[in-house]
Amino acid sequence: MRLDGKSIVVTGASAGMGHAIVERFVKEGARVTAVARRRERLEELAESLKDEPGKIIICTGDIGDENTSARMIDMAVQEFGRLDVLLNVAGIMDDNTAVGDVSDEMLDRLFRINTLGPLYAMRRAVQVFLSQNDESGNIINVTSVGAAHQTAGVAYCASKAALTAATKNTAYMYLEKGIRCNAIAPGGVVTEIPLVMPTPDEFGFGRSSALLTHAPELGMPEDIAEAALFLASDESRFVNGAILTCDGGWTAF
Ligand SMILES: NC(=O)c1ccc[n+]([C@@H]2O[C@H](COP(=O)([O-])OP(=O)(O)OC[C@H]3O[C@@H](n4cnc5c(N)ncnc54)[C@H](OP(=O)(O)O)[C@@H]3O)[C@@H](O)[C@H]2O)c1
Repeated sequence: MRLDGKSIVVTGASAGMGHAIVERFVKEGARVTAVARRRERLEELAESLKDEPGKIIICTGDIGDENTSARMIDMAVQEFGRLDVLLNVAGIMDDNTAVGDVSDEMLDRLFRINTLGPLYAMRRAVQVFLSQNDESGNIINVTSVGAAHQTAGVAYCASKAALTAATKNTAYMYLEKGIRCNAIAPGGVVTEIPLVMPTPDEFGFGRSSALLTHAPELGMPEDIAEAALFLASDESRFVNGAILTCDGGWTAF
């Protein structure tokens, strides 16, 4: 098994990519702390995986609240004795608004959940990695092709670009401590994200959806889970500070 015994925290585990990642990881022997706000979804996921080789515990909370980050990492350490991997998947979309019309509320919400939440979790995880004193640790952030291409509004694209910068900064800062940090940048993937998206701004959506003419077929959450499995496993031990684009070639032009 490719993740045998690894203690891994996965946020955004109740739907979409995070859900598929937890399923894949527990089947590969990981001991997963699954995080989201909807407890009943996480309980269903845990029940469906009870006969698989790995283990799963659940932690509920808003990832934009620093207390959730601390609690989920501490739960993983308490239950499994250590932390090996943090996978920041949870995130939200904006309403495609361009900067001239963006609201304070939209900027605050997108940066709180897409950027600050992952940063709080990274800070706690790095403190735990260093305290374990064994020159290891692995962080994987889910960003977006929107970090470098204009596939959404300014709040979403800027929040994911900031997370990309934090990924590279962390990889560089701790490379002599044995801590790796990489990101996955998905393109269009079939998940529940459109169901929770706010009503699109007409001007901004018109601009960003023009890029859809280059888009290939949508990917599936399982495609992202395969990329996450590689980055979480020791097979990727020489990969650090990388942004792995998983978009079926959408942004290859
Ligand atoms: N789907 C795409 O086409 C696409 C493309 C590029 C990048 N992405 C990125 O991929 C990641 C996963 O998205 P997805 O498409 O799988 O979305 P999804 O199906 O909507 O799932 C989002 C997950 O994040 C959790 N979440 C959202 N807000 C949260 C909060 N405040 N606190 C805790 N958990 C929260 C949700 O759980 P609860 O609601 O239960 O809390 C859910 O488990 C996101 O970071 C997204 O930006 C998606």
